[in-house]
Amino acid sequence: MTAARARTAGLTDAVTDADLTAQHSPLMSPLVWDLAHIGNQEELWLLRRVGGREAMHPEIDPLYDAFAHPRAERPSLPLLGPAQARRYAAEVRGRVFDLLDRVPLEGSALLDDGFAFGMIAQHEQQHDETMLITHQLRQGPPVLGAPDPGAPYDPPPAVSEVLVAAGEFIMGTSTEPWALDNERPAHVRETGAFFVDTTPVTNAAFLAFVEDGGYREPRWWAPEGWEQVRRHGIGAPLFWRREAGQWLRRRFGVVEPVPAEEPVMHVSWYEADAWARWAGRRLPTEAEWEKAARFDPASGRSRRYPWGDADPTPERANLGQRHLRPARAGSYPAGASPAGARQLIGDVWEWTASDFLPYPGFRAFPYREYSEVFFGPGHKVLRGGSFAVDPVACRGTFRNWDLPVRRQIFAGFRTVRDAA
Ligand code: AVJ
Ligand code: FE
Repeated sequence: MTAARARTAGLTDAVTDADLTAQHSPLMSPLVWDLAHIGNQEELWLLRRVGGREAMHPEIDPLYDAFAHPRAERPSLPLLGPAQARRYAAEVRGRVFDLLDRVPLEGSALLDDGFAFGMIAQHEQQHDETMLITHQLRQGPPVLGAPDPGAPYDPPPAVSEVLVAAGEFIMGTSTEPWALDNERPAHVRETGAFFVDTTPVTNAAFLAFVEDGGYREPRWWAPEGWEQVRRHGIGAPLFWRREAGQWLRRRFGVVEPVPAEEPVMHVSWYEADAWARWAGRRLPTEAEWEKAARFDPASGRSRRYPWGDADPTPERANLGQRHLRPARAGSYPAGASPAGARQLIGDVWEWTASDFLPYPGFRAFPYREYSEVFFGPGHKVLRGGSFAVDPVACRGTFRNWDLPVRRQIFAGFRTVRDAA
């Protein structure tokens, strides 16, 4: 929780008060909304639900209820100002730490293994990624800085795809203490044999599709994707532009040449799906992705992470906003899965072919609005986490979801083909 708050402070102290209250994109809240919403969720779940305290400021609850007001409306609400929002979040945190000193971490589903505290730490980290997306959408000179990855790269992968054998594996978890409701319970799934890309699809590989006229060729596109491309005149990933014969991109206020070897990002599910069709491949199902990332054929077990059960380290994955970009494709050999696929965790979220649906035996916990209300064909699942995700909110079973038209998230993809 302390690490999350340091990141929240870094993301919100980097800009002026005027910038904190401005809306940088209708897709996003003003940063000051995220800040007070983080405090409000912490108050609701820890001080009130776990601690049994009275509401500190009941009149502000509706302002920070994500379901009460769509993001585009939030700037017009009577929100707490920057100083008030910071004070509120800090006051809540002080009281939460007093509570944490006294409350037993057992005796109910919310308390066992400190679940509610883990959930709130993950919630703040999730909003820290949301706020980083807002920074990426913001216009103006750069205000954030971080060293480039310089990731462990040696030796580069020898093959472009690896085989995952047919058969059953355990998907999801019933034992990971801070796994959220949609990751539960563990259950058996079966897949056919397939080849999966060793690394996420790179900018260079994506550019070949652009230059082959991929955005002008309806046969590669799902109908709604083709409609989006035509209506908005889309011809490249978001934040790319072509200038004097060169492809450039804007990244946190810096304009730079598109790096060929980096995983492509800021593509919609439709762009990922179209690229895969053009390449004669397809997006993995969610089960295929998780099997490639977790299944260890030697033991028959599913691991917590591709490399094993140990927590992420800087040698294994690009997580936690240590860098403000993905590492080049082929990095992190120490993070490879048993099959030999790399960068499944960290770098870029990966679109899967699958709709966001409950696992058999799903139970909403602790609230329906975390997952359950989003289940259905409208949302596609993303896996693996990006460079912007903290390790506390990332594991082999973690499920993210978004609308298939969304391009502002730090999402790329990898592909598969049947091994018939
Ligand atoms: C899991 C990233 C889709 O940001 O909408 C934050 C996480 N839920 N506050 C989102 C979340 C409630 C959620 N995602
Ligand atoms: Fe939230």
